Amino acid sequence: MPVASVRAYNLSGNTNQLFSVPTARSSSIMDEACTIPSGIGALVVSPRAYATQKELMAGFQWLRRHSPVGFIDVEGFDPFWVVTTYADIVEVSRRHDFFHSGERASTLVPKATDALARSLTGGSPHLMRTLLQMDAPDHPRYRQITQRWFARQGVAMLEDRVRTIARDLVDGMVERTAGCDFVREVAQIYPLRVMMAMLELPERDESHLLGLIQELFRSQDEAPGHGRASRDPARHAKRLQDAVMSFDRYFAPLLERARQSSRDDLIGLIADAVIDGRPIDRLEAISYLMVIVTAGHHTVASAISGAVWAMCENPGEFRKIKSDSGLVPHLVEEAVRWTTPAQHVMRTATEDTVLNGRRIARGDWLMLCYLSANRDELVFDAPDRFCVDRDRGRNLAFGYGAHICLGQHLARLEMQVFFEELLRRLAWIEISGVPRRLASIFVGGPRALPVKFAML
Ligand code: HEM
Repeated sequence: MPVASVRAYNLSGNTNQLFSVPTARSSSIMDEACTIPSGIGALVVSPRAYATQKELMAGFQWLRRHSPVGFIDVEGFDPFWVVTTYADIVEVSRRHDFFHSGERASTLVPKATDALARSLTGGSPHLMRTLLQMDAPDHPRYRQITQRWFARQGVAMLEDRVRTIARDLVDGMVERTAGCDFVREVAQIYPLRVMMAMLELPERDESHLLGLIQELFRSQDEAPGHGRASRDPARHAKRLQDAVMSFDRYFAPLLERARQSSRDDLIGLIADAVIDGRPIDRLEAISYLMVIVTAGHHTVASAISGAVWAMCENPGEFRKIKSDSGLVPHLVEEAVRWTTPAQHVMRTATEDTVLNGRRIARGDWLMLCYLSANRDELVFDAPDRFCVDRDRGRNLAFGYGAHICLGQHLARLEMQVFFEELLRRLAWIEISGVPRRLASIFVGGPRALPVKFAML
């Protein structure tokens, strides 16, 4: 196990205020470092710890209590700050002028992967550039292209189509009551079909598209820590590049056709976008579609299957929601809080500053642990309990601020409709094998959920 140390500099008490300081971090401040249990840093960068969760969650709890903005220096990674409380993550997200998404990798990657990405791109840490890697002034310009389409009122118009897709899938579950992997056979199919309907893609492309998404996802799943890719960053980068090229082959002709026919659907909006008076670059348009397709797939599937897993383990919660369908909007929020499918993102400080009493230097890398913030005991009562009637609206599963999830209203609609259709038909459900979580620092949620059930 690599040696990990977390250094904390508590300069101004436990304030959640963030303010600039004019001077750079001095080495004397670095010497005030205090070490925390060495295992915690190792857990934070270990994909396996995210699969088993128990120790990791205890580590996050320790960090929230004793070092909410801690410094991790662990073998194989550039040192970074780990931000674990709700309040500090909101503060960093509010100050997106101080904390950028694009300067360094926007998710945690080992040094070797970062170096390889930079060598392939001629210096950029990003093998692709999407909204997630942009900052102002580009970010709002690109986000605006589809912002209206993804607004609450815009996606509400999709409800009938989404409901038909959900109902068909739930109907199909009747044949699987004796046992199925809920993740692979139900949850992953649903957002794929919604996305295909949204982009008006032909049904015959379903398995091809699922393959593309899974290829890209696998390259992320294995990325950091002690996974295969950290032993072989070249393989990881090659996989990612191959996945990007496959997306390009699929979407480039669709974009070209959309450009020629001036479609006013989502693909048309992207194909015809004009940025600063010039048509959107081809690669940028592909990346845009790619982030929409991928960001909305595993996240929705994970939140749904994470909630089903939790209801199997808490039959009282299942009974509660069965007896009161008015609780479904609460279930939706609890599903995303509980599972937190996007477990972290990285930000880079653009200036010397102070965060919750810790001096952050320009160029420092910060990990915003959404997974930890969604278990913050100062914000959530009994955060380690899954409650279908928990108060809505305060979790950070969709992020916060400028980069808040573009697809949040669509995601909520998808989950609301799916849970309504599922709960209407489901009499009981239980785990019938060994469920497993994804071993990934970035994308969280169940990888396999064997269940048996009865339908009404
Ligand atoms: C339960 C489902 C979902 C979860 C938990 C989720 C989570 C997130 C989070 C945490 C971010 C912010 C990343 C950051 O802070 O840098 C984000 C951004 C984003 N999400 Fe989602 N997401 C979900 C569903 C979707 C869907 C359905 C779509 C679209 C179809 C989507 C598209 C995007 C895009 C394009 C961004 C980038 C926004 C930006 O950087 O401005 N997401 N998502």
